[in-house]
Formats: sequence, C-alpha cells, structure tokens
Amino acid sequence: MTIWNQSFSFTLPTKIVFGPGCIKDLGSLITGLGGVHPLFITDSGVIKAGILEKALEKLGEEFKPVIFDGVEANPRDVTVAAAAYRYRKARADCMVAIGGGSPIDCAKAAGVLIANKGDNIKAFEGMAGASKTIPPLIAIPTTAGTGGELTFSAMITDTANHYKMTIKNACAAAKIALCDPELTLASPPALTASAGMDALAHAIEAYTASCAEPLADAAALYAVELIAQNLPVVFKNGSDLSARSKMLMGSMLGGIAFSHSDAASAHCITAALGGMYDLPHGVCNSIILPFIMEYNLNYCVDGYARIARAMGLKPDQGREGALAAVEAVRKLAQEVKLPLFSSLSVDEKDFPVIARTAGENISNQSNPRPMTEEDYLKVLKTMASA
Ligand SMILES: [Fe+2]
Repeated sequence: MTIWNQSFSFTLPTKIVFGPGCIKDLGSLITGLGGVHPLFITDSGVIKAGILEKALEKLGEEFKPVIFDGVEANPRDVTVAAAAYRYRKARADCMVAIGGGSPIDCAKAAGVLIANKGDNIKAFEGMAGASKTIPPLIAIPTTAGTGGELTFSAMITDTANHYKMTIKNACAAAKIALCDPELTLASPPALTASAGMDALAHAIEAYTASCAEPLADAAALYAVELIAQNLPVVFKNGSDLSARSKMLMGSMLGGIAFSHSDAASAHCITAALGGMYDLPHGVCNSIILPFIMEYNLNYCVDGYARIARAMGLKPDQGREGALAAVEAVRKLAQEVKLPLFSSLSVDEKDFPVIARTAGENISNQSNPRPMTEEDYLKVLKTMASA
C-alpha cells in the first residue's frame, strides 16, 4: 500500500500476448524475435500433459527446436548451468520456457549465464551482477501462479548451501509472455490450488510491502479480486475456461505487482523451506501467509481491510476489517484443501536455521513490519503449535 511521499519508476519490458488458443502464434512470435533455433526449457509434467507437443506442432519446418526437459521443482543451480550449456552447445538463438514457475525461472537464470558469460548462477545472486540482457525468451505459463512470465526474478536453489537464492534484475525479463488459458486446463486440482494461493500471496505481500507503489497496488488489488472469486471455481471445475482465464490474469497481475513492489516475509520462510526441504512453493505460501498477516496486522490495518473488500467481504473499519482478511485467506486455503504446517514434517530443530535464512532473504526488508531472526522463530513456533 503506497506511501505517497516515495518516488518510483515502472518498467514492464515484456510484451503480453493473452487469450484462449494464442499458442498458435508461437511460430510467428519466434520469427519476430529473429529466432529459428529455439531452446525449449520445460519439465516432465508439461511433456506428460502433451503441452510441449502442442507447442511444437505450431512450428513450421523452418524451425530447429532443441529440448531441455530436465527442470525439477525448486530448480537447482546445477540445472540452470546444464540448461545454459545445452543452449551454447546447440548454438540456439532464443529460448522458449513452458511450464510453471520452475522452467520459467530456470530459463531466466540460464539466460543470465548465457548473456553474461557465467558458469554459476551464484555469481549473479541478488539485485545486481547481471549487466547484459538475456537472449530473447518467450515464457509460456501452464499454471496460474508464479507470474514468472512477467517478473524480473528467478528463485534458484543453491545446492551447496541449501537455500533458495533470488536473482532479480530487469535484464532477466522475458521478451514475450504468451499466456494461453487453454494450456492451464490440464493443471490438476492440487496444483491449481497451490499455484493460485501463491499468486494470492504475491498480490497481498506486494500490496502491503514497504516498497509498494500505486501501479503495483492497482495490479495487486485486481489480482486479489480475480483469485478470490475464481480459485474455488477452477478447483472444483478445472475445465471452466472463463474462470481459468481470470485466474491466469490474476497470476499475471500478481507477478506485475510483486516484481515492481516486492514479496515479503511469507515468501522468505517459503524460500528457506524450499531450499532446505525441497517443499512446494505454493503450498508453503498458502500455509504461512495468514500467520505473517497476523504478525503484520497492526502495521497494515487499512491495507488488509482493503484486501478483505477485494476478496468480496464488507468488513468493519479498522482492526476488525484487517482480521477479516486474515480469516478470508485461511478460509480460501481450506476451501481448496491445502494442508496445515504439521503436514510439511519440518523438524523443530531446524527452526533456527530456517529463521536465520528467512531473515537474510533480500525480501525481508520489504515486509511492512520489521522482522528479526527471533521474530521468524516465534512465527515458526506459532505455526507448529496451531
Ligand atoms: Fe511465490
């Protein structure tokens, strides 16, 4: 929620192509970028769902695609290096990332290595380090969640130190986000739910971040509205194309919001858990978000009350309104059958390391209420006892 005495700038370097069936334009979009030899970066789930095949069918014989399908959930630094190696070895001239956040993040990070002649993505951690723009990238989301097709950031697991590092740099943005809601129809209910709650976390954390700005606020509030209305619909009926379209737009708006504002402490804990336990990002955010909202409550009374209204409630003013938003987030997570913290089997003896890692995350500074390592430890213990 914007503090109006702060200045900001807003850059959206990615062209958006949106609409049911727009995957048909893939060939002409690659041609428009000057490419004939694209490296497709994807994962086994996308291949099993037949989505890669569907994309390749759209290419004429003039294209010479190469496939890198080794991306795992919580993509690792070594996988990023392998994808960059594949690009160089094949002498590819552009990239197409198809999937959820993992293939798209892997492609952005591999692009950073390719453009900046690097071998290890660790050298580009944080906000700086990458000065050259990545090779032309078309990002094609197959879930409505990460918004990675429109963000400048990539979350990559540092396998030596067991945590997820963030690479955040406008040089890493995709040239084109090709957003075809039909490609999300195959997303099963559990993935639909966790991805959707991740998108909600992006919007809520961006809206209340200390670095919020008005254009990101606008994107965040509409994202909250679209997700709150449509996540239960697509969870129950995955073939509802209209609701899938609204969810995809919600996740895109959430991506725009948090890449121009930031994520905050829920994502800091989620990143720590992802690096240590390889736990699914959206599930963790869904569980953690309401606890962080409770921690932040007194610092975000008006902001959370506005979130409650965006979620379709007519809350009271002040603290009661803010509490209504926390409960609405919890209720939505329950409605789409997301689990409790206890189901993650996180060992309490690891809490101090998780708390330290979360506190060191670059997005910790964006949380609206300052949060120390001790504060993270308290929230972790609260979640464990809930
Ligand atoms: Fe996220």
